[in-house]
Amino acid sequence: MNKPLVAANWKLNKGPKEAEEFFKSFKQGIGQKWKDNFLFFIPAANWFVAQKELDSQFSWGAQNIYKEASGAFTGENSAATLKEFGGDHVLVGHSERRQIFNEDNKLLNEKVLFTISQNLVPVLCVGETLEQREAGQTMQVVGEQLEKGLDSVKATDNFIIAYEPVWAIGTGVVASPEQAQEVHAFVRKKMGELFSQNKAEQTLILYGGSVKASNAKELNDRPDIDGFLVGGASLDPVQFSSILEVCLK
Ligand code: PGA
Repeated sequence: MNKPLVAANWKLNKGPKEAEEFFKSFKQGIGQKWKDNFLFFIPAANWFVAQKELDSQFSWGAQNIYKEASGAFTGENSAATLKEFGGDHVLVGHSERRQIFNEDNKLLNEKVLFTISQNLVPVLCVGETLEQREAGQTMQVVGEQLEKGLDSVKATDNFIIAYEPVWAIGTGVVASPEQAQEVHAFVRKKMGELFSQNKAEQTLILYGGSVKASNAKELNDRPDIDGFLVGGASLDPVQFSSILEVCLK
């Protein structure tokens, strides 16, 4: 796959009817030709739609799972069920999970390890708040999220990192290509320290936070930005597809 990998994060949006309409329309656009370049994180209520509409052709996954496959965990999503529907990726530690649902690095590490043990690919999200950036703590925060979140993960394990500065998520304020590249280069260096140089080169590092077609290309042109995690602009099939389209030009 040539970069970028463009991942949709629908968050708590779209019921089955809208999801079906989206996928039908999406498959008629460039999604048809560039299947490997797209990934979808959709609400659990739409997993059966993904099974039907995306089949095994596209990668898709859960926005969150619990660290156990089944049991007395009211309200949680199951990795076993995700697999039954054909999903293959799991978003872990999105800033909304960290902030609204108080998920800490220890729990997120358990989720990463459990996801890997289920042969699913975790996409671990990291990123600093505006306060932390202004206090000059960006690398420290991101470094700690990576070290703790990836504790006991092996170089042979398959995972993706998404750098999402909290101040850029849903705000319309995108990180500049320089700001994003600086942190992505740091994340790659960290992969070298935690694993190996080889792993650092292979690890996909996505950028997320107010990505849309008008700002995607200049971000994608940076060497350490391998793709995107897209919220708002992933809700419309044409807008979402155009993020890849502008990067391919
Ligand atoms: P946004 O969200 O593109 O709407 O900023 C990104 C995300 O939360 O993953």
